[in-house]
Amino acid sequence: MTQQSILVARAVFPEVLAKLGEHFEVESNQEDTIWPREEFIRRLQGKVGVFTTGGERIDAALLKACPDLKICANMAVGYNNFDVPAMTAAGVMATNAPDVLTETTADMGFTLLMATARRLSESEAYLRAGQWNKWSYDMFCGGDIHGSTLGILGMGRIGRAVARRGAHGFGMNVIYHNRSRLAPELEQEANARYVSKQDLFRQADHIVLVLPYSAENHHTVGATEIALMKPTSTIVNIGRGGLIDENALAAALAANKILGAGLDVFEGEPRVNPALTALKNVVLTPHIGSASVPTRKAMANLAADNLIGYLVHGKLKRLSINSQALSNRLNDLSFSLSVKL
Ligand code: DGY
Repeated sequence: MTQQSILVARAVFPEVLAKLGEHFEVESNQEDTIWPREEFIRRLQGKVGVFTTGGERIDAALLKACPDLKICANMAVGYNNFDVPAMTAAGVMATNAPDVLTETTADMGFTLLMATARRLSESEAYLRAGQWNKWSYDMFCGGDIHGSTLGILGMGRIGRAVARRGAHGFGMNVIYHNRSRLAPELEQEANARYVSKQDLFRQADHIVLVLPYSAENHHTVGATEIALMKPTSTIVNIGRGGLIDENALAAALAANKILGAGLDVFEGEPRVNPALTALKNVVLTPHIGSASVPTRKAMANLAADNLIGYLVHGKLKRLSINSQALSNRLNDLSFSLSVKL
């Protein structure tokens, strides 16, 4: 029997590649080349599955050019690279890698929060540049974390894990805003109080953005929201770059309208807005929120298991992004087929 072919779009752990190789004919990319889109599409033709990492756009045009494709498995919890309705319409399963990165990404949110509030990057750069020649009473004074108010925008699994760290570890007063209010038991577990988006920006000392990105929440934090923030406050983004209007943020930071920002994600990454890199009061990291070795291995294994589960065993261990929509669509199709017959 000929083996099914899959494409692994970016370099992955060799053991994950070996596991996939036990089940499929695998075209890999261990050189980690960023293929131009036309090349990606060309390589994907004739493949039934693809292992993506969040940067490869899967849309209607690609799906039309790759009719054999059955599943796209993202090694990321975010899936803004997927046009989910187009995938469902084409009968293609979309999977992501939730849960396994929750705590590691929340750790990173907290790392950035602390580094920003305590001006870590700026003070380290000063020391490394040999500029430190005396102690002074106001040198690199920042804001307190313990006992302050933590505002979380987006209260999914990662948001709640950030809240737990703030409330239980640092005695913070946690407020949050989310599309819908959490169930009382989840609010209690996170020790968090629901407020309006405006109140969150007005009241918080430290804001963390943990929203999934979509066209609807593009620049959900812009000049209007930043203008509500306290001059001593900070903002951290571990969601997606497009959530913040980076030019508005850079302008506020340059004018010291807020204390600082910690950013792990950028609009148009890996390109970073030069207005941000020019500033001292911003901590910048290259999208490493989930980057601990055990977590990245767990994410890669989950994406590989989704490919194996669906293509080899005909089922996934848990509901995927569009499994429900896909099964509804297939039911509708068989219904219309039976009506036609
Ligand atoms: C995710 O999983 O969405 C992280 O941002 C890594 O891409």
